[in-house]
Order: sequence, then structure tokens, then C-alpha cells
Amino acid sequence: MMPAMPGHDLRTAFITGASGGIGAALARVMARAGIQVALAARREPELSALAATIAAEGSTARVYPVDVGDPAAITAAVLRADDECGGLDVVVANAGVAVQRWSGKIDWHDCETMLDVNVVGATATLVAPIARMVERGRGHLVGVSSLAAYRGLPKLAVYSASKAYLSALCESLRVDLAKAGVAVTEVRPGYVRTGMNAGAGKLPLELTAEAAAQEIFDAIVARKAVHAFPLAMAAAMRSVTSLPNALWDKIAPKMT
Ligand SMILES: NC(=O)c1ccc[n+]([C@@H]2O[C@H](COP(=O)([O-])OP(=O)(O)OC[C@H]3O[C@@H](n4cnc5c(N)ncnc54)[C@H](OP(=O)(O)O)[C@@H]3O)[C@@H](O)[C@H]2O)c1
Repeated sequence: MMPAMPGHDLRTAFITGASGGIGAALARVMARAGIQVALAARREPELSALAATIAAEGSTARVYPVDVGDPAAITAAVLRADDECGGLDVVVANAGVAVQRWSGKIDWHDCETMLDVNVVGATATLVAPIARMVERGRGHLVGVSSLAAYRGLPKLAVYSASKAYLSALCESLRVDLAKAGVAVTEVRPGYVRTGMNAGAGKLPLELTAEAAAQEIFDAIVARKAVHAFPLAMAAAMRSVTSLPNALWDKIAPKMT
């Protein structure tokens, strides 16, 4: 009997935010699909425990403890993983933080953390491998944005803005890099039950981290430009982008 075909040609992937939530689930999905994974985040014990689980399942995982808010450190980690894995096929900028607060009460500390991780960290993660991928004529960059990127959401001013930034960054990278053989996929999940929303009650159309990870992996394999999910919530968020501001300003505050 012929062995099952993997349905993709990906050998290696670097994933930030792999110590928990969507990133850890994506690492497991990719490892089960035969991809060697490089796990990055700050919490080394969580990364090592995940690497051990993946190894016990017969796949390979390497651990890269790093704060993505330090651009030099995340750049060095991506390049080291590229060397150690024999060339990264996929780099996923997944690490992210969200502070939910009414804009009348936000302070710079909240803003700084989200900008460091969601903007500086994601940019440094995605930019780090580009020169090598262009040289190889092969590679795939993935940005984990959010449905919050579609419009400025209430109590999520900086988070929404940071994800809109990441979405625009991915789009520009995509149009620039296609001719160099480097693909770019941007994913926009809706609510996913992770540490990010621990303590929140049942959220509309919420997904498990495992279900979200499978959606993201399928979008990468399909080399989709943008994948927003779940479909019903993505359709709703896309539709509000065409609402006039006067209407959005009335509806939005009722959303949270
Ligand atoms: N959950 C949702 O409903 C939802 C919806 C849409 C989009 N998203 C996006 O999905 C991505 C993953 O979120 P999640 O829900 O899985 O959140 P999570 O469970 O809170 O995980 C966040 C991950 O980011 C890492 N991280 C945070 N700050 C970091 C830093 N300075 N340096 C390195 N890693 C850092 C964390 O690891 P360490 O603490 O170990 O560093 C952790 O692994 C985020 O970009 C988020 O915005 C989530």
C-alpha cells in the first residue's frame, strides 16, 4: 500500500506565541502533518513541554524562548531557527496581546504592550526571513490578525488598530513578494477560547484553539491570501465595513 500523501510540501515552520492558545494548537496540527516546528514565546517551560509532547507523537520540535517585543532578539531567533531547521518554509507571526478597556480609561502602558507585541513583534517576525526566502525563491509568511481589524471596535482601540496594521502589512508584503516566490497568508479569527479571553462567558460563535488552528493550517496549505473565520461572523464584520460612520457609531458601542 502507498503511504498517504501529506497534501502539502511544507517541511519546516516557525511559530510565535507557541506557548499556549492558538499558537500551541497550530504547532501540534503542523507537527502531525509532518512539519518540523520551531516554537517561540517567552515562557520556556511551556515551550519545552509542548516540544516533548510533539516528540512523543513522533515529530520534531525546537524551542526558541524569546520576547518578540525585542526586534533584535526575534530577528536572531528566526535566523537561528532558519539555520537549525535547514531553511524555514513557513513563518507565523501569531504572538499577540489584547487589553480590553474603554478608551476613556486607557493608559500608555496598555498601548505600549500591544504595540510592542502586535505591531513591532509581528513586523520583526515577518521581516526577518524575507531576504533568505527571496534568495531561495520559496517561503510562506503568515500573519495572525483578527476580525477586529475590519473596524475600530469599542474598548479595543489599540488592539483593533494593531490588527488593522498587521492586515495592511500582510497585504503589501503579499503584492510585493509574489513575484519572488514568497506567499503571504493573513488570517482573521473571530472569538477563540484561549488564555486571551479567560474568564469571559460564552462568546458569539466561539471556536476552540484546535478548530482555529486547523482553519489556519488549511488556509496556509491552500495558500489563501486572506482567511477570515468563522464564516458567519466574518461575513457580518465584512458587511459593517460598508456602513456609514454615523450608523457604525450608533451600533458599535452596543457590541460590548
Ligand atoms: N483568542 C481570540 O479570540 C483571538 C481572536 C482573534 C485573533 N486572535 C489572535 O491570535 C493570536 C494568538 O492569540 P491567543 O488567543 O492564542 O492568545 P494567548 O492564548 O493569550 O496566547 C498568546 C501567545 O502570545 C505569546 N506572547 C505574548 N506576548 C509575547 C511576547 N512579548 N513575546 C513572545 N510571545 C508573546 C504568549 O506566550 P508567552 O506569554 O509565553 O510569551 C502566548 O503564547 C494573537 O495574535 C491574537 O491577537 C485571538
